[in-house]
Amino acid sequence: MNIKNLISGMTLKEKIGQLNQIAYIPQNIDGIEDRIRSGSIGSIILSQTAFAGNDSPCSIDYEKANRLQRIAVEETSSHIPILFGRDVIHGHKTVFPVPLAMSASFNPELIKESYECIAKEAYNDGIKWTFAPMLDMSRDARWGRIIESAGEDPYLAQKVGEAVIKGFQGDDYSDAGRLCACAKHFVGYGASEGGRDYNRTEISEYTLRNFYLKAFKTAVSAGVGTVMSAFNEISGQPVTSSRYLITDILKNEFGFDGFVVSDWEAVKQLINQGVAETEKDCGEQAFNAGIDMDMVDDIYNKYLPELVEAGKISEKAIDEAVYRILYIKDKAGLFDKPYTVPVSADKSYTAEKAKEMAAESMVLLKNNNNILPLSASCKVYLDGPMQNDARSILGSWTLDGIAEETVTVSQGIKRYVMPVSDVSDADIVILALGESHTVTGEAHSLSMVDMPKEQAELAKKYKEMGKKTVGIMNFGRPIAMEDAEGYFDAILYAWHSGSQTGNAIADIIFGKVNPSGHLPATLPRRTGQIPLYYNFTKGSREVNEYYDHRQDREIYNYDDCEGSPLYPFGYGQSYTKFEYSNPKILENKENKEFVVGITVKNTGAYDGKELVQCYVCDDIASMMRPIRELKGFQKVFLKKGEEKEISFKLGYEELGFYNKDNKFAVEDGTFTVFMGGDSFCQNEVKLIYKK
Ligand code: NOJ
Repeated sequence: MNIKNLISGMTLKEKIGQLNQIAYIPQNIDGIEDRIRSGSIGSIILSQTAFAGNDSPCSIDYEKANRLQRIAVEETSSHIPILFGRDVIHGHKTVFPVPLAMSASFNPELIKESYECIAKEAYNDGIKWTFAPMLDMSRDARWGRIIESAGEDPYLAQKVGEAVIKGFQGDDYSDAGRLCACAKHFVGYGASEGGRDYNRTEISEYTLRNFYLKAFKTAVSAGVGTVMSAFNEISGQPVTSSRYLITDILKNEFGFDGFVVSDWEAVKQLINQGVAETEKDCGEQAFNAGIDMDMVDDIYNKYLPELVEAGKISEKAIDEAVYRILYIKDKAGLFDKPYTVPVSADKSYTAEKAKEMAAESMVLLKNNNNILPLSASCKVYLDGPMQNDARSILGSWTLDGIAEETVTVSQGIKRYVMPVSDVSDADIVILALGESHTVTGEAHSLSMVDMPKEQAELAKKYKEMGKKTVGIMNFGRPIAMEDAEGYFDAILYAWHSGSQTGNAIADIIFGKVNPSGHLPATLPRRTGQIPLYYNFTKGSREVNEYYDHRQDREIYNYDDCEGSPLYPFGYGQSYTKFEYSNPKILENKENKEFVVGITVKNTGAYDGKELVQCYVCDDIASMMRPIRELKGFQKVFLKKGEEKEISFKLGYEELGFYNKDNKFAVEDGTFTVFMGGDSFCQNEVKLIYKK
């Protein structure tokens, strides 16, 4: 498609129509067909509410979408097809684990395969654009949207984000069964103060570049088609009106050539944020910042014509925004194939993938005396509020998931054993604990993320009865459970893991699957420790207790609580044991590029997967650097008795950082590399970098 030619034949009104996205589901809008005919709609978000996280099931199908598309293609003067979008976040009809859980798999390949399945199901309902992945790094479990993130680490978010984008888009998202992805929310939304949603954010340029922007830069390199701007502000400037962030950094510095869509009504919200007085001001500021498409508040549609007329916005800039949108429509194949022709999507393959993904995401935190796995002859008593809850385990942002088709914890367990009805007959008590999806996701933050009191009480009751207890934690977010932890003999952190949650849990507790998930976010002891994360900068006095549990210290982070987490970032047990030895430098190219390695051996009684992690610390630098940062990970399968040497490349990308001039550079000097099975690992080698 020659887009420039197409644009040169369009009227200003037609062009502005392309910048306009409206919300639509069949029940709620009259006159949609005439609005399409008038050429004032570039995109439709198939959604009925601004808080779609807990929205009701999809009411559109591909035939309805095709009918609307036909009007755009055949009855408008420009004949430009509509881009249909929907929040397909972690599944469509088949629901996969919430994104934070998928991130716990540390398995980008499996994440990619999962999103391939998700894309097909969504495409077959007439959707061609999704608003995922969410790349907001989050260090605060109180924030309900932490469940949509990859967790607290930028490197992990880079790898997960790339996998999600590849899964949705493939090599060519004009293909049937593929969706155009959207990296969101650019940028810093995850730093919402106190975990309060839509709250202010305070991020220095140093932290912005070294943490929050990283995954977006990678997403651009991975070819993400679109980016959504964030609600929050940076340094007193709403992102929606920040030309520095949207145009200078995202478009010019990162070279992003797709289009930027605002978040829902974010253009109008510049009034709430106190930087614009009228809707017209909002339109002017957002458009001139570089927001190409206006999500649902109709401001571009209403005010851009007069702003162009008044010379406040140039028609050249309008042409550039239209170009970006039509370029992506072309890449999505809409000009050649505007109508959805469903592809074959094997439901049972998708269900199997969802089960595999769910099992791979679950984290075994505790397993005293190897109480797990259970044998199928064991007498189990099942209790807890989540045992029959089919909806909560689907998680938030499950717009089309079907609770009736979800395997609950109880159904999963019953595929192995029939629970006994009297607890006194039981060898083991399984407690299905957790939180409702309604306290997670958008606009649902909590002030306390300690384990709910009544759930801790329940666990205590069985402990006092002398029962061996396995805790299944169906929480969307990390929770603090210092007080309750001792009541459990084993803890499986099972998240909100989607349609196959019950099957995946049962496969793990009865030993069909050996758990291999690791924490993508620190599990604090108590809410009051938040924010608590592994990659903090060094302190002035040695009071950072995250890694150091000495009892003989003079000063502590807190007088009333240990400073260390209950379980650190990267932590996760297996039914087998892994031993590490022989960390070394395998290659050193002119003190600039290195390969480091470590031997890992399965010394336990089961075959299993280990997550080998590689962390780096810049020992002395011109700026304060994190105490350690994840720079590589590999999940390796080892049969019992087997050993392998695992290696990691470390060079410019891994050793450098954005310095005080906002320039990325590596500084000469020594770096300590730590390798092992979690962020506490101590096997180290020293590198010397020289320019
Ligand atoms: C608001 C949310 O912040 C965003 O993530 C979502 O994609 C849009 N609403 C559309 O539902």
